[in-house]
Amino acid sequence: MSYAKRFDKRRLDEMRKIDAKVGVIKRADGSAMFQIGDTIAIAAVYGPRALHPKFLQNPEKGILRCNYDMISFSVPDRKRPGPARRSTEISLVTEKALLPVLDLKQFPNAVVDVFIQIVQANAGTRCAGICAASMALAHAGVPMSDLISAISVGKVSDKIVIDLNKEEEDHEEGATDIPVAMNSEGEITLLQLDGNVSKSELFQALEFAKKGCSEIDVIQRKALKDFYKGVKNE
Ligand code: CDP
Repeated sequence: MSYAKRFDKRRLDEMRKIDAKVGVIKRADGSAMFQIGDTIAIAAVYGPRALHPKFLQNPEKGILRCNYDMISFSVPDRKRPGPARRSTEISLVTEKALLPVLDLKQFPNAVVDVFIQIVQANAGTRCAGICAASMALAHAGVPMSDLISAISVGKVSDKIVIDLNKEEEDHEEGATDIPVAMNSEGEITLLQLDGNVSKSELFQALEFAKKGCSEIDVIQRKALKDFYKGVKNE
């Protein structure tokens, strides 16, 4: 059977409603909130500051350390608190997605810590976390050549769609989830694939991701500009 109409009636290339804001945590050096549909990510940046223990330091440049976590009550079935293989993997891919646009050469022996908390989850949390983290790093004033935007694309039953929600991820005829992150030039910094797609379907999905990321990039930049407009007017 074909997946004729999306469960929430979106077009195949339509993302859920997005809201983004920076400066949400006063004590952090940089912070941001990124919401897409019912998925909400908060990112807080601390640093650059001296890295301890010293044997972890890199005398040539600062290091980026991301920590992704989904809080227990962010999902309908309470998630077991504490570290898990999933959060370790997502923390690592988040670091790799963000590093290409960061310039940490000015900060030898230092660390930039990024804490990402998913306070509500309905699929696409790693992408929401990357979007929030990128904005929080810019808000912290960490030197960056660009922002990173991220969105999940994929296949639900027989249709290529953007921004799968949890109901779609759990479709009885199967779903393929492809989280993608890129800079504003469309250069991909993260591509994961959980499921099956043909080569042509993958290309179609990547077209959706490119369009979605460029829309997200506009929203991220607007949130940063709005914050500084507000600071000036205070
Ligand atoms: O969130 P993301 O799509 O990046 O990663 P995932 O591991 O594919 O998880 C998909 C979704 O499953 C999450 O966004 C949550 O809504 C849900 N989930 C859950 O309910 N309980 C977990 N322990 C992990 C994920």
